[in-house]
Amino acid sequence: MKLVITGRVDPRVIQEIRSRRPDLSLKVWNESGIISREQLLAWSKDADLMITMLTERVDTELLEHAPHLKMVSNMAVGFDNFDLAALEKSHVLATNTPDVLTEATAELTMALMLLVLRRLRSAEDALRQYHWTGWEPDGFLGFELYGKTLGIVGFGRIARAVVKRALAFGMRVIIFTRRSLKDLPENVQQVSWEQLLESSDIVSLHVPLTPQTLHLINHETLSRMRPTAILINTSRGAVVDEKALIAALRTGKLAGAGLDVFETEPLPSDSSLRELPNVTLLPHIGSATVETRLAMAERAWHNILAYLNGQKPPDLLLPKLWPDKT
Ligand code: GLV
Ligand code: GLV
Repeated sequence: MKLVITGRVDPRVIQEIRSRRPDLSLKVWNESGIISREQLLAWSKDADLMITMLTERVDTELLEHAPHLKMVSNMAVGFDNFDLAALEKSHVLATNTPDVLTEATAELTMALMLLVLRRLRSAEDALRQYHWTGWEPDGFLGFELYGKTLGIVGFGRIARAVVKRALAFGMRVIIFTRRSLKDLPENVQQVSWEQLLESSDIVSLHVPLTPQTLHLINHETLSRMRPTAILINTSRGAVVDEKALIAALRTGKLAGAGLDVFETEPLPSDSSLRELPNVTLLPHIGSATVETRLAMAERAWHNILAYLNGQKPPDLLLPKLWPDKT
């Protein structure tokens, strides 16, 4: 069997694969940059199993190029790069890597809030560019997280990990989710979508990208937010209508934004986001820690290994494709 890995994963995991399953023929993308679509399609031809990155679209076209493919294991919690209907039709199993990146992503969410509210990027730039002339009572003033209302959209693992941190910072937390939440701690409240938009000092997005969440933040929703509010996005770029966001930031309808994800990645060279002073832009690094990327690669591999051992992969996305043996 041939296992294709489409990105440069931690060498410790490659080592583990080789020692656990020396029978597998391994093909790993080890070049710099992201594997091209052309190369990916060529590699799909004789692949039985694949570990993919979120940059690889797994769709009808790819599946048509991969007649032997049995399973594709995404090294990401998000799987909007997978066409699940096409995978189901082709009877190809699919998995993701939940849990392991929760803490790293929650940490980056807090970092973005601090970066934007405390204006850390421009303060550091000023120092580096020799513009710091000494401590002044009105120098580099930002706003603090303490006492602010954080509006959390979604209530999955990452959202819950952010709530814990926000409470430690002394924030009040309001949550919008369709599920009914019980036994919420003090200073945490479930609210309506309108209430969340209208009462948050900071809105932070923690939903997967689906047809329902596409452009959830748009002209209409932005106009309901406070002009002093900021938007944080560590989920998927297309949850936000970027054009509408740029317009809101330009016209002062929104005070700022901290973005780790974009509608098009990498961020196009002509994106106006770069020109806005009140935004902090990061290159999709929510899970980018040594610990987490190792754990993600291990989890992606363990899903494959379960399949090879005839066991149900723990993170199966289309459980109906698994013949129920119970
Ligand atoms: C990262 O964005 C992921 O979905 O794992
Ligand atoms: C979503 O998968 C989350 O972990 O919040």
